[in-house]
Amino acid sequence: MKHFPVNVLVLVLIALSAVFLPHSASVAAGLENSPGKGYYKVPPPSWYGSVVMKKNIKSSDDVAPVVFKHWVHRRFYTCNVCHGKLGFAWKAGDTDIRHAEMDGGKTCGACHNNDIAFGKEKCNRCHSYGLKVVENSRIKYALKDFPVDDFGNKTDWMKALHEDKISPATSLDGKGKLKYLDKDVLLPAYSRATYAPVPPDVLFPHKSHTEILDCAACHPGRFKAKQGGNPEMDMMKIINGQYCGACHGKVAFPLEDCFRCHSVDRAVPDWITGEDVKKEKAAKEKAKKKAKEEEEKKKNKKKKKKRTTLF
Ligand code: HEC
Ligand code: HEC
Ligand code: HEC
Ligand code: HEC
Ligand code: HEC
Ligand code: HEC
Repeated sequence: MKHFPVNVLVLVLIALSAVFLPHSASVAAGLENSPGKGYYKVPPPSWYGSVVMKKNIKSSDDVAPVVFKHWVHRRFYTCNVCHGKLGFAWKAGDTDIRHAEMDGGKTCGACHNNDIAFGKEKCNRCHSYGLKVVENSRIKYALKDFPVDDFGNKTDWMKALHEDKISPATSLDGKGKLKYLDKDVLLPAYSRATYAPVPPDVLFPHKSHTEILDCAACHPGRFKAKQGGNPEMDMMKIINGQYCGACHGKVAFPLEDCFRCHSVDRAVPDWITGEDVKKEKAAKEKAKKKAKEEEEKKKNKKKKKKRTTLF
């Protein structure tokens, strides 16, 4: 060890710290309450479906922005409970929330009243953006026995529901049931696309959706309740947050999971395989052959006629 290359060691240490420091720094700052630092391109599972709320908070208020996490709440309530009577908007930043109304049992105050959930005196549990809040649950422990998925919260919420890992209440008092519809609707991507490669067709399952959402979440605002009734819908609009993209990519599993929606394989259309050109050629040849045959027949008839007149 007489001539240990110190410069190499320093370089290795710098390289390692570049990899590990941002991570440890964001964990120390409470990764669960912020989207993580820099190198995260995809939000970490704990952050997927989180909304930062600060519309009515002034810089003089001396509280951090509020972090609302869907993964925490959807274990206890179906979507319609909040996106219904309680009046939470389907778009981040659209709901006007103030403590004056919360104190009267509205919005978050319908539950955060020390009865259903912790009360308003625990300021930093809600006003937690960028803070390390020890009381709040950590996703890796809270959802550790849940069926895993590759995307979003890394939890398959539909399986979790069907395997009774969660049994969310469909109303604040736990009474009443959601109207349930067991009907799949095929949304053909092939007929729509004008370029290749074309993904398989989309199957929309009413069953899964109506177990946690009410009809009003989609009809009539988002979709006309008629098969093929939404011809303007396409993938770009979905990526831009319309149609399926109002939920998928925000709270429900993200759009990277192409084949969970594009799940119905179809025969590859002719214009992709070149089969259309072949068919056209074959049809032309058939027509030509037929014309030739007809001509032959006519000729033969004439010959026959000639013979009959001869004898
Ligand atoms: C149950 C969650 C929750 C708790 C607990 C909570 N807040 Fe809030 N607070 C909110 C939400 C949500 C908003 C609205 C955020 C927005 O969209 O601007 C808000 C807004 C505010 C605002 C600005 C709007 C207004 O109503 O004045 C202040 C100031 C505030 N909170 C201070 C506090 C303080 C201080 C505490 C502790 C005594 C506290 N909050 C506890 C959720 C909470
Ligand atoms: C406990 C209440 C609650 C439950 C349950 C709930 N949400 Fe939300 N949701 C909210 C709040 C609060 C917001 C933020 C609204 C705002 O910022 O104005 C929100 C926002 C959203 C947004 C907009 C997100 C964005 O980034 O723009 C979508 C989409 C959404 N919720 C879908 C769902 C779905 C799907 C379910 C059921 C799986 C669900 N929510 C369950 C309270 C809830
Ligand atoms: C329908 C009831 C309901 C509503 C509405 C609701 N919550 Fe909750 N919330 C709960 C329950 C239940 C829990 C889990 C039990 C607990 O921690 O006390 C919870 C937990 C939380 C937690 C703890 C998060 C963690 O990591 O464990 C925060 C923060 C929170 N809610 C914020 C909010 C904010 C902000 C709003 C309003 C925008 C809101 N909640 C609206 C029921 C609700
Ligand atoms: C998550 C969104 C969503 C929810 C929730 C939802 N639907 Fe639909 N519904 C759709 C979509 C998407 C279509 C297909 C539209 C198309 O083909 O363009 C559809 C189509 C329909 C159709 C036409 C089916 C056909 O074969 O012509 C009916 C009827 C319908 N929905 C009724 C309901 C009822 C009743 C509920 C509540 C129990 C409900 N929907 C809940 C999204 C939803
Ligand atoms: C109002 C919100 C909302 C809209 C709009 C919506 N979804 Fe969903 N979808 C959900 C939620 C919530 C789940 C549950 C799984 C999850 O959260 O990841 C789900 C689950 C699914 C599943 C998986 C079902 C299962 O049993 O595993 C498919 C497939 C799906 N959605 C397709 C679509 C398609 C296609 C559209 C548009 C035509 C659409 N969704 C529109 C909220 C929505
Ligand atoms: C939440 C469900 C969902 C997911 C996830 C999804 N799509 Fe789509 N996609 C749709 C729907 C719905 C349509 C429209 C089908 C129709 O109405 O005929 C569509 C249409 C398309 C089309 C047809 C042309 C067009 O522009 O509309 C292409 C190409 C496409 N998607 C590619 C993708 C790719 C690639 C991914 C993964 C990165 C993906 N989709 C993920 C629902 C989804």
